[in-house]
Amino acid sequence: MSTSSRKLDHVRICLERQVESRWTPFDDIMLVHKALPEIDEASINTRCRFLGKEMKAPFLICAMTGGHPETREINVNLAKAAQEVGVALGIGSQRAALEDPRQIETFSAVRDAAPDVPIIGNIGAPQLRKLGGEAVDYLAEMVGADAVAVHLNFLQESIQPEGDRDASGVLEALKTIASGKTAIIVKETGAGISMEVARDVLRSGVKTIDISGMGGTSWSGVEAYRAEMIGDLGSKDLGELFWSWGVPTPVSIVECASAGAEVVASGGIRSGLDAAKSIALGASVAGAALPFLKPATMGSAEVAFTLQSYIRALRTCMFLTGSRDLSNLKRAPTVILGRCREILEQRGLDTRKFSTYRERAK
Ligand SMILES: Cc1cc2nc3c(=O)[nH]c(=O)nc-3n(C[C@H](O)[C@H](O)[C@H](O)COP(=O)(O)O)c2cc1C
Repeated sequence: MSTSSRKLDHVRICLERQVESRWTPFDDIMLVHKALPEIDEASINTRCRFLGKEMKAPFLICAMTGGHPETREINVNLAKAAQEVGVALGIGSQRAALEDPRQIETFSAVRDAAPDVPIIGNIGAPQLRKLGGEAVDYLAEMVGADAVAVHLNFLQESIQPEGDRDASGVLEALKTIASGKTAIIVKETGAGISMEVARDVLRSGVKTIDISGMGGTSWSGVEAYRAEMIGDLGSKDLGELFWSWGVPTPVSIVECASAGAEVVASGGIRSGLDAAKSIALGASVAGAALPFLKPATMGSAEVAFTLQSYIRALRTCMFLTGSRDLSNLKRAPTVILGRCREILEQRGLDTRKFSTYRERAK
């Protein structure tokens, strides 16, 4: 099966089936309500800088698609909304465009629709090893990207019948590209990044990590559905077994911030409240993929509406924690409960002092 038609299968499954994790770890995180916020809500400032550009809010539409003619419109709708609202946009893996140059336009159309916001290109770690350093600059030029994300998806590759399960040499490849002219982000795809991996990534020279933790879209789940469709029952069972595998998003944020990374939080961020919690835990920017997919099949106004509802909830959170701007929100009192707390404590991170990890990350 070609990369292009596999991509379309993924989009269809994500639109039609229940593909999310069976656990919502953000329930374990509580921002402490400030009954006397002593600020005017109208004066709250959500602006920030990301990848050298100004954004109106610390938000990213995460990598999803491109690479098939039917996905061009999805990308353009996402891009128009990102431009209108003033937030960043990731595109899906550009592998299909490398294999078939006719697909380039399904990605490059985003820069025309979103001339001013940060755009992030995308390629998988297994492909990066084979392609070498110069390919990353080419991918960035293809879409006028401000950075290229190298995605780690070895959970998905493990379930996919045709998956690429040779993960050796990725760190070496990262070292080669980290010193090049294109900014690099290392990104998971729904199974999260631990502090040990964050340290390896930082040692390679890459500073920004999109943790994409467990709690949202399950790529093990998506591949289980795909395996069922093609009658591969062994892969279907494996996909179901690993459905909720990974480092939960809030845990991964704290772990990667404690390692000193600039953290992009994604994986199960389903509201501006989750985005605010992520920032209070140590992320600089929060993002989501799945919640924007259906709106993007409808139009850019639907995507912009979803983005605005995230931003409204983020502002509400900032008001109710007395946070005038994002640096105040980063210091907002936050409580970590339940399984997230237990995991962090077992991992040797003191949950009462996690703000000190954030300070160290600066
Ligand atoms: C339809 C779809 C396609 C995706 N394709 C890619 C991709 O090509 N490259 C990538 O890095 N991540 C891809 N992702 C993963 C997302 O960027 C994100 O890391 C993950 O879905 C978790 O976020 P969520 O829970 O908000 O969906 C895709 C996600 C969806 C829903």
